[in-house]
Amino acid sequence: MARLLPILIFLFFNSLIVLSSQSKPPPASFKPNKLVLPAYKDKATNLFTTNIHKRTPSLQFPFVLNLNGKFLWVTCDRKYLSSTYKAPYCHSTQCAKASTTPSASCFSCSSHARPGCHNNTCGLMTQNPVTHQNSMGELAQDVLSIQSTKGSNPGPFVSVPGFLFACASSSLLSKGLPRNVQGVAGLGHAPISLPTQLASHFGFAPKFALCLPSSTSNNGAVFFGDGPYYMRPGNTDVSRSLTYTPLTISPRGKYHVSVTQIRINNKVVPVNTALLTLNRQGRGGTKISTIEPYTILEHSIFQSVTTYFANELSNYKVPRVKAVAPFGLCFDSRKLSNTRLGPKVPNIDLVLKNKQNVKWTIPGANSMVQAGPGVTCLAFVDGGVNKHRASMIIGAYQLQDNLLQFDLARSMLGFSSSLLLRGTSCSNFNFTATTTPYME
Ligand SMILES: *[C@@H]1O[C@H](CO)[C@@H](O)[C@H](O)[C@H]1NC(C)=O
Ligand SMILES: *[C@@H]1O[C@H](CO)[C@@H](O)[C@H](O)[C@H]1NC(C)=O
Repeated sequence: MARLLPILIFLFFNSLIVLSSQSKPPPASFKPNKLVLPAYKDKATNLFTTNIHKRTPSLQFPFVLNLNGKFLWVTCDRKYLSSTYKAPYCHSTQCAKASTTPSASCFSCSSHARPGCHNNTCGLMTQNPVTHQNSMGELAQDVLSIQSTKGSNPGPFVSVPGFLFACASSSLLSKGLPRNVQGVAGLGHAPISLPTQLASHFGFAPKFALCLPSSTSNNGAVFFGDGPYYMRPGNTDVSRSLTYTPLTISPRGKYHVSVTQIRINNKVVPVNTALLTLNRQGRGGTKISTIEPYTILEHSIFQSVTTYFANELSNYKVPRVKAVAPFGLCFDSRKLSNTRLGPKVPNIDLVLKNKQNVKWTIPGANSMVQAGPGVTCLAFVDGGVNKHRASMIIGAYQLQDNLLQFDLARSMLGFSSSLLLRGTSCSNFNFTATTTPYME
């Protein structure tokens, strides 16, 4: 009996856990209109990650956030254990929905059947967004759980039972990505991207907002669904600080905006405006990326911007120093004075298309980066000639502490410019959960 007792106690508590999870079903009427994920900045790669709960039993895994990624992929060859994993068969409705090409390729696998390896399922090409290494993965479905919110503090967890994603080979994780990530979460304009599936499952408008942190020690947030999004101090609804510009999707499915002019210190920087237009071949224009750490400018634009910026900054009597790669224009940090909005330098404004032109203001906090001891550089990179499809790729450093709302129903991008201008930042969402989490 004495030996049996611990087992009986164990069984008793086990049944309690089962009972309590059964006796507290989620209210059937509970349909969140907004969800929230944390966003972390990785020190080593300058990429941004989030934690997503998946599988049964539910486990949390880190994923790289890829704004232009078409879906979520995860490595399944490292002990993927889940009682709810399914691989839709080839030519199923799920495959038709997920496939980017009209004829989905049928997938087969020669080793033992396991998640990521079944016969007659459909293949999805998965890619490491940093190295561009590709590998064929298997389309899969499993439970995804995510915290709901009313705009401040995360609330109860809710779940999507048949969330569609791809199982990829773990070899894709070997280079360029933060350690420990298990895959990439795509936020792109695509049928099975994270924002599309969450909006269609919960029935809210296909809108999501990115608020990337500038610090590696305080996380930012990603919201799915419309505002309000409240930030400290004083529960400010930062969605009210958005200015809008048309959002376009390039032929390759990437998020683009139309920059019509670049200004430094309110003066127009001369650039070849033909480069600023996305042409029929899908070249030119301005893409937004969370994978490029710094904004990339086509060579002639880069030269014009750096020359102009150096010229304007010469009025501030800040000596230039030898440039540190990958940057082209660097200064003596000691001679730059610091302000609430970062180093004191001329603002760079991106003038964006709208009925009236609108301005995306880039203050020192988003234009200058400490590149070495005593060296502060203009955080823009020379993209060369014809090397990139887009003439400008707005990179993550310029997105930090800037609330960006992607409205996929109205094709508009809302941007706040630096939240520091409004006395808050992307690290000011209160992530203290208000209700005991439960699983649907
Ligand atoms: C797929 O089919 C092939 C040929 O019939 C077989 O050798 C292989 O083991 C199967 N793979 C799985 C994962 O069932
Ligand atoms: C965060 O939210 C919790 C729960 O509502 C609250 O108790 C706490 O004071 C908030 N923290 C801050 C710094 O506002």
